[in-house]
Amino acid sequence: MKLDGVGRLHQQVYRALLGEILSGRLTSGERVPSTRDVARELKVSRNTALLAYEQLLAEGFVTPRAGAAGTVVAPVLPPDGYVARPTRRLDAPRPGRLAAAPTLAAVGERYVQSARACAATLGTATLSWELAPPAIRYDFRPGRAAFGDLPYALWRRLLNARARDARIADLDYGPPAGRRELREAIATRLRRLRGLDANPDHIVIVNGTQQALDLVTRVLVNPGDRVLMEEPHYTGARCAFMAAGAELVFSPVDEHGIRVPTTGGGRRPFRLAYVTPSHQFPTGAVLSMERRRRLIAWAAREGAFIVEDDYDGEYRYDGPPLQAMTGMDGAGCTIYVGTFSKILFPALRLGYLVLPAPLVEPIVATKAIADTGTPALMQLALADFIAEGHFDRHLRRTTVSNAARRQALVAAVDGQFGDRATVCGASAGLHLLVWLRGRRGGVIHDVHHIAERAGVGLFTVDPFYATPPERTGILLGFAPLMPADIREGIRRLAGALR
Ligand SMILES: Cc1ncc(COP(=O)(O)O)c(C=O)c1O
Repeated sequence: MKLDGVGRLHQQVYRALLGEILSGRLTSGERVPSTRDVARELKVSRNTALLAYEQLLAEGFVTPRAGAAGTVVAPVLPPDGYVARPTRRLDAPRPGRLAAAPTLAAVGERYVQSARACAATLGTATLSWELAPPAIRYDFRPGRAAFGDLPYALWRRLLNARARDARIADLDYGPPAGRRELREAIATRLRRLRGLDANPDHIVIVNGTQQALDLVTRVLVNPGDRVLMEEPHYTGARCAFMAAGAELVFSPVDEHGIRVPTTGGGRRPFRLAYVTPSHQFPTGAVLSMERRRRLIAWAAREGAFIVEDDYDGEYRYDGPPLQAMTGMDGAGCTIYVGTFSKILFPALRLGYLVLPAPLVEPIVATKAIADTGTPALMQLALADFIAEGHFDRHLRRTTVSNAARRQALVAAVDGQFGDRATVCGASAGLHLLVWLRGRRGGVIHDVHHIAERAGVGLFTVDPFYATPPERTGILLGFAPLMPADIREGIRRLAGALR
């Protein structure tokens, strides 16, 4: 017997013994050498030999000897030609047409193509919001939370308590729409703070905004359907609509938010409009009251739904948070999407939809088929976090600290760039936009690379346009930075761009 040198030792011993059986050197009913003998012959430990025997037993190649110690070769063996191979790595190349060029369904092909296209606009190899490299000292890349302010010990305690006291129902499959405790906590908050009278039965817990967008699109958008988007726009939403094969129609954003189109006669109607009214991504504009009304009236006329993505609108610095647009909608055509990625942290992957009644069943059915529901312990810990008042306290505290960071950023940009820069979108959220005078737009990575060499991480605004803008702007997130680092980062950036 010889070992073939491939893979784990006990698997090599298993194959060596199996080779003896399949080659006929050990025949049915014949006694198999003891583990002690095999270990000695192959120079392996007795435990390694034992593991190999256990596998042969489990697979039925050998059986215990009736009424006596030891093992014998099984009476029935596989047909001639059976070969025991080393376990193949799943990613190792395999011969055959399927592996070389699998034929994807049209929808699979669209998901691949839209992820590739969106990754290319962001300048990343694959579609992912993971920010790399992490070593940039002055990291203003938008979308990041105030990680340093998180009451992490408290969060850990709530999570531990839920894990410790888990009942069977908490460990079993849960409702695909999400745990009632969390839906009720969210409904109470929305009623009190966002002017949204949400029925917990119309709330569906999802794995972040991205899943909300995917579910809504699957349920409502057919290939070729028109979807209205802001220009510039959020890539995550664009990606979901592209994957559905939608025709994207971009409408420009100015200081009052998206310009509401007049109903286009003759063409196919719109199915969906996607907007970020509280703090437009990426310009930071707030959708005016008048345009909110016009957008809802437009959607009602078109027979379209509006997705209100309220990703960071709860941070508002110059006055109380605005009422959610969904609260103004008497027509029942607005879908509200909230997330915990910005106020808490994105790795939670927890968000929610507030749906018009007729969409509840379709969305819950789709969620049930997609993933049978969101992890329960996280939902329960978050429900406690909200119900015990920690969420509101954390929001109040971080609104103050984020306001100080924003103030430091605006002052630093003014001081370093003067009239070469115009700041906008600073009234809410966790990032602002700085338009740079005298720099041509459309050069996506130019400013980005200069900044990176100076130790400053940022995004330019260009990738968020379908048609590159004529001027260049930079998006600066401020939540995870200390004011002193903000000042130093902007000093370096201004020096590098001079
Ligand atoms: C416009 C917009 N919506 C939503 C999100 C959050 O997405 P998620 O809830 O999937 O983390 C982001 C994150 O940067 C965003 O910019």
